[in-house]
Parts: sequence; C-alpha cells; structure tokens
Amino acid sequence: MTTGTLITTPFGFETTAAEVVEDVDLTGKRAIVTGGASGIGVETARALAAAGADVVLAVRDTAAGDRTAGDLRATTGRDVHVARLDLADRDSIAAFAAGWTGPLHILVNNAGVMAVQEPETSPEGWDLQFATNHLGHFALATRLHPALAAADGARVVSVSSAAHLRSPVIFDDLHFAFRPYDPWLAYGQSKTANVLFAVEADRRWADDGIRVNALMPGGIATNLQRHIGPELIENARRNGARLKTPEQGAATSVLLAASPLVAGVGGRYFEDVNEAAVVDRRPAETLAPAPGVARYALDPANAERLWSVSEELVG
Ligand SMILES: NC(=O)c1ccc[n+]([C@@H]2O[C@H](COP(=O)([O-])OP(=O)(O)OC[C@H]3O[C@@H](n4cnc5c(N)ncnc54)[C@H](OP(=O)(O)O)[C@@H]3O)[C@@H](O)[C@H]2O)c1
Repeated sequence: MTTGTLITTPFGFETTAAEVVEDVDLTGKRAIVTGGASGIGVETARALAAAGADVVLAVRDTAAGDRTAGDLRATTGRDVHVARLDLADRDSIAAFAAGWTGPLHILVNNAGVMAVQEPETSPEGWDLQFATNHLGHFALATRLHPALAAADGARVVSVSSAAHLRSPVIFDDLHFAFRPYDPWLAYGQSKTANVLFAVEADRRWADDGIRVNALMPGGIATNLQRHIGPELIENARRNGARLKTPEQGAATSVLLAASPLVAGVGGRYFEDVNEAAVVDRRPAETLAPAPGVARYALDPANAERLWSVSEELVG
C-alpha cells in the first residue's frame, strides 16, 4: 500500500526496457510474459531474455508466438519458449498452469484487450474485458502461486493503464447487466482491477517472498488499438501528446519485474519508471494519458473485496 513517500528511480519517460536491465543478471530466473507476441509484451520479453532470463511467451496465437520467439532468439542469443494461453478460456488457463513445473521467478500479466466496441462476453457471460484483463490473469496467478512461492523471491507485474482513471470496479454490475455497455468504462474497470489485484496479491503473498506491483506503460501505438482504429493514436499525435516506443513502453514493466531498485517493494502503481502520485479526481479528458493513480485503485478494502469476488467467479 502506498505511503507518503513515492519511490523514485534514475529513469524516466524515455528510458527503454533494455536500459533498465543494463546491469541486471537474470541468469537462472524463469519468466512468463502473457501476450508476449505483440506490442510491449515483445519488448518486455526481449529485455528479460537479454538479461539472461529463461522466458516463456504465453500467447493465444502460437504461430505469432513462434515468429516472435525466433526474433527474440536472434536478437538476444537466448532460447525463448512459447506456450498456448487464452485468458478468456478457463480450460486453457488450467492447462497452461498444469503444464508448469518448477519455480517461477517473474510473471508479467501483460496481455489485454481495449475498448471492445460491442458488448462481448466470455463463455461464462462475463464482460470480455474484465474476463480477459482481470479474471484470466487472476486465475493464472493464483494457479501459479505454488511455483511463485517456490522461487523464493518472485515478482508479479500487473500491467494496468491510465484508463483505470475512467472507472472504479463497479461491484454491483461488473458485467454491464444493469448499465448501458460502454467500451471505455469496461476497459477502465478492468484496468482498476489490475491495480487492486496487485494490492491484495502483495498483501497475501509478500510473506511467501512474492511481491506484486501494477503499472501504466505509457501511450504506445500497438495492436491494442485494433478495436478503435488508428484515430486515437493519430489524434493524440496531432494534438502533441507524447507517445512512447514499445521499447520505452516496456521499461516500467521490466523495472518491476527485474530491477534491484524496487526489491522488496509491493502493492504500488508505477508510471514512467517511477511510482505515481495518488489523484482524487478524474482528470479532464485529454488525448494524452493522464498521470496518477486513483485512490480507489489502491484501496485495501476494494482490493480484498475484488479478490473474494474473483475467487467466487473463477473458483
Ligand atoms: N499500448 C498502449 O498505449 C497501452 C496503454 C496503457 C496500457 N496498456 C496495456 O499494455 C498491455 C499490452 O498492450 P499492448 O499495447 O502491447 O497491446 P497489444 O499489442 O494488442 O498486445 C496485447 C496482447 O494481449 C493478447 N491477448 C488479448 N486477449 C488475449 C487472451 N484472451 N488471451 C491471451 N492473450 C490475449 C494479444 O494477443 P493476440 O495478438 O492474439 O490478440 C496481444 O498479444 C495491455 O494490458 C494494455 O492494456 C497499453
């Protein structure tokens, strides 16, 4: 849980993932990056592999995973593995977790879908963004808990977004059964859940040596914008918003996954490779991602409640 003093690092907006791990040796560490075949997941995996980690790309499209693994092997000289994982499919999550043996040092919950335009649901009838971005990662991480605990000093990274400022978790209507579906409220709710997951997982698992943090990677042109088209990024650029490259966008994930600068830190939210300040009001709508973390996203009672609800849903 965040206290008055924010954690700062020598890094900033323009830092790349490679720069974060320049002096870090991850030899002997095993890492999973969900959604590792696209966007910032690729650069997160590349930096971890280059630092010596044994990386698994957990992807739903294994052909894309194989292509990315080939690229990562060529650029890092390390072996990179691919395993199938569909976060909206509980059997797929169960199979992935069952196939994991031995300790897991780094889990980067990176995969995500954004602003799905029409209401879509998982097979269980859960809102697809909540199901994929939060519930899928919740099921994955809790199933992998024994492997994380066995690592004796594991880190879990929960990739959230500044879009969490658009909505708290609406516990009375998680799946838009009573309110009109809104693509951005659904995304925002799921991204708040990513932060609350970090808060409660860290509280529960710190004694097992597992530290969990959340982050906003920045605004980056990736496949994430597939449901809204290129206009969002083009408008942001035209209006002077600062965007990041995927290499810069992966930097905060890699800090939390691997840097000694945040050893022993947990339950916090970072952006631009530093801890973010708490904000108490939704910022005015701008095309640039708003800075800060909403108080509701770090609230321990919300976090505990979300954990119970998630447990009930995924079993
Ligand atoms: N880009 C930004 O500006 C930005 C800003 C804030 C936060 N973020 C967050 O950063 C993370 C990475 O996003 P990105 O920009 O790198 O987007 P991206 O290029 O679209 O990558 C997202 C990845 O998630 C995977 N994915 C989606 N649904 C999945 C499912 N059901 N099961 C398994 N994997 C699934 C996608 O796989 P497929 O290719 O098979 O669909 C893709 O590999 C997301 O959590 C996103 O919310 C991004």
